[in-house]
Amino acid sequence: MAIPSAATLAVNEIKVIDLDGLQSAGAAKRRDLVRRISDSCRGLGFFSIVNHGIPQASIDAVFAAGQRFFALPLERKMEISLTRSMAFRGYLPMKIMGKDQEIKGNLHEAFHCYREVPADDPDVLAGTPLHDVNHWPDLPGFRETLIDYYARVDALSLELLRLFAIGLDLPDDAFTRLCKRPMSALKIMHYPAQDPADPGEQLGVRPHTDPGTVTILAQDNVGGLEVLSPDGTWLAVPPIRGAYVVNIGEMLKIWTDGMFAATPHRVINRYGRDRYSLPFVANPDYDALIVPQMTNPDPAPRGEPWLATSESLTSQKTSGAILERLYGRIWPTAQTQRFDA
Ligand code: OGA
Ligand code: NI
Repeated sequence: MAIPSAATLAVNEIKVIDLDGLQSAGAAKRRDLVRRISDSCRGLGFFSIVNHGIPQASIDAVFAAGQRFFALPLERKMEISLTRSMAFRGYLPMKIMGKDQEIKGNLHEAFHCYREVPADDPDVLAGTPLHDVNHWPDLPGFRETLIDYYARVDALSLELLRLFAIGLDLPDDAFTRLCKRPMSALKIMHYPAQDPADPGEQLGVRPHTDPGTVTILAQDNVGGLEVLSPDGTWLAVPPIRGAYVVNIGEMLKIWTDGMFAATPHRVINRYGRDRYSLPFVANPDYDALIVPQMTNPDPAPRGEPWLATSESLTSQKTSGAILERLYGRIWPTAQTQRFDA
């Protein structure tokens, strides 16, 4: 076995959508923008946005905070390991896995945080699954930088959900009404370069779909994100400075009755130097019921592979139930961990 290969996506194969002037744009421009976004969600399920309103300095500050954190000695990082948390917060070490014995480890380390809540938050006090305070490293400015960035990208995720709803002729709050206390995750990921001669059993991230509504990803200039195209080839997504890569997750796929595609993707860092990325995985409220909010007029099966992360359109679970099951399988907690050597 060897590392699987991929073709490179030409820059114009993934639509770059300019959100400049979204608020001030006239009705015709806004309609055109919404249509282009909607077409992308129904096609490849991936697109890029520029002029999204989040300052580059804010994005760069999070990359810099992540590099400072990952450069700490392992024992310092392990002080806030996911294995010390019951709610998947803190540091995910390289190759450490959750309960699912079938799933291979990943060639990345990561930092995970969620909406910042105080220790006396009612759900934290009640021990509601997936609720906890964030676990921050003892690094000056780290927490403030991430909380500031989280608020900005959280607001952008809600704006995108409103545009998606408008593009589907739904009331603009059709999705955001189920995102009042969203369970969205901000991750900083660090992928070492993968040795081209290794057997390819472990990848940066194995093929998967994202669980939530929409993922908003900043990647550095190394590259490594690859998307499964409808014809079954893997396409490398070239990085564009200042742009976010946006993709649809399983729960929005279900809310749109399969109109929007939760497209499989993976990460392989075949580029000889370290790669960093910042995915913001937007998730609905804990108790939001994930059932279609509309009827797909053309419910043809998309013929996507049935990945471990796939959710059925008819499963009728809550957001919390979907996330709890998935996270428990792929990530360790204080009670379960597995090292995939
Ligand atoms: C993910 C993911 C992509 C990347 O975390 O779900 O797909 O480029 N990350 O890091
Ligand atoms: Ni993903």
